[in-house]
Amino acid sequence: MGYFDLTGHTAIITGAASGIGAAIARRLAKAGATVVIADINGAAAAEVAATISGALSVQMDVTSTESVQAAVDGVIAQTGQVHILVNNAGIGGKAAPLWEQDIDDWHKCIAINMDGVWNGCKAVIAHMRANKYGRIVNIASIAGKEGNPNMSAYSATKAAVIGFTKSIAKEVATDGVCVNAVSPAVVRTPILEQLTPQQVAYMTEKIPMRRTGEPEEIAAVVHFLSSPDCSFVTAQTYDASGGRATY
Ligand SMILES: NC(=O)c1ccc[n+]([C@@H]2O[C@H](COP(=O)([O-])OP(=O)(O)OC[C@H]3O[C@@H](n4cnc5c(N)ncnc54)[C@H](O)[C@@H]3O)[C@@H](O)[C@H]2O)c1
Repeated sequence: MGYFDLTGHTAIITGAASGIGAAIARRLAKAGATVVIADINGAAAAEVAATISGALSVQMDVTSTESVQAAVDGVIAQTGQVHILVNNAGIGGKAAPLWEQDIDDWHKCIAINMDGVWNGCKAVIAHMRANKYGRIVNIASIAGKEGNPNMSAYSATKAAVIGFTKSIAKEVATDGVCVNAVSPAVVRTPILEQLTPQQVAYMTEKIPMRRTGEPEEIAAVVHFLSSPDCSFVTAQTYDASGGRATY
């Protein structure tokens, strides 16, 4: 058995039909996990699952409590246990200053980026507590720490994910369940198509390494946090940001 071995573990990754989520799924599967590609785009989820040995896929809308619970219950029925949940599904939202945004732009970001994380955690928490084992990783963003201009809704939702992670981690700290967040800086995935090139350039300039991250570099951090080796680390936010934030 190697370090960070996930043999026999089942991992649900939301938003795994694309970008960072797909890279996380590939990485956890390589470590031995049975991965579940959960995404609102069921066809794309099935396509990604078909490229990963033993992977399952499920169509799931993270904004719907019922949809997420049904998907989680289905996975438990099929595999017996969910050991790992990665709440990764998210959107950048409309890239514009506040005076060009309306309340629907704000609510859409909240529904996917915040309600989505709440729904995921709620759907597994009793199950993980009963099993006295679980690893939850919530994908936040450096925007949640630094606040990116023209991304106020996104930045607010990601700050909320960090606060929520710290809080629930303490609620389950004696139950064998570790809950952590990862805050990437800009990573080249389809999500960037929601932004202007100027916005992407602004965010890249802020990174001391002077480059965007790769999805696999985020997956590497998530891998440790998903593993049994992550046993005394909880309620933390891990930056994968090329040095952008140092706190
Ligand atoms: N790419 C970046 O620069 C970056 C930086 C920091 C944080 N993040 C975060 O990483 C996560 C993944 O981003 P990405 O860059 O891979 O984006 P992406 O657009 O490539 O993938 C997002 C996935 O989420 C899915 N999704 C959207 N709404 C959903 C819903 N309601 N229910 C279920 N699935 C849904 C999409 O279908 C898609 O497959 C997001 O939470 C994002 O905020 C990304």
